Amino acid sequence: MRRYVIAGNWKMNFTPSEATAFINEVKPLVEGKNNCDIIFCAPFVTIGAAMEAAKGSNIKIGAQNVHFEEKGAFTGEISAKMLKEIGVEYVIIGHSERRQYFGETDHTVNLRTKAALAAGLKVLLCLGEVKEERLAGITNEVVAMQTKLDLAGISAEELKNVIIAYEPVWAIGTGLTATPEQADETCGAIRDVVASLYGREAAEGLIIQYGGSMNEKNASELLSKANVDGGLIGGASLVAEKFNAIVDAAQ
Ligand code: 13P
Repeated sequence: MRRYVIAGNWKMNFTPSEATAFINEVKPLVEGKNNCDIIFCAPFVTIGAAMEAAKGSNIKIGAQNVHFEEKGAFTGEISAKMLKEIGVEYVIIGHSERRQYFGETDHTVNLRTKAALAAGLKVLLCLGEVKEERLAGITNEVVAMQTKLDLAGISAEELKNVIIAYEPVWAIGTGLTATPEQADETCGAIRDVVASLYGREAAEGLIIQYGGSMNEKNASELLSKANVDGGLIGGASLVAEKFNAIVDAAQ
């Protein structure tokens, strides 16, 4: 049986003190709701404060990116070893905003994923089609290609530490949500590709989240779908009651 994973992607929001206040607000709301894993992925400088505030609770803190080299002349980058040393467990890789604005490709996403897994981090691997691809009817081909390229060279054992977040780019931050049927179908298509690569059992064990304007209103319907195992939430992860309502939908 797969477990729901409800993860907030704070993106470039929350200073350390704001994160502390937010975690202190959300912590009592989600307390004891252990039917899902709860993660907030924080900006690098905010991770420490968020971890401190979340200590002893059922909230885990992750990062939003990681570099693929171990160390060296890569100004502005953060290594997997650095994240690991401060106690980070999860890292988002390949978010569409990184692909769109910072030149990430499936190749660099693959390199980052390998480096994160090698360092013992768990990866929230993001992929999804843009609007033109959905309208052209090639969504399944696009996510299949991304899945294959992003997971290239990753072993079945390593795959156990990967969560895929299916995030249709046209649904991110737009208020447009994939219908539950669209989300289920595309998450299912991704699962089939993973089955073709790693076998059906591995694919059935893989957690696949939906992301893209998931909120307190649409979460239960999306999460009720067989292939949707959780959510990666942007905007609604910045408001304690909204995030808590999504956690409730996963109970
Ligand atoms: P929104 O929930 O704001 O659409 O963002 C989704 C997302 O990008 C999560 O990574």
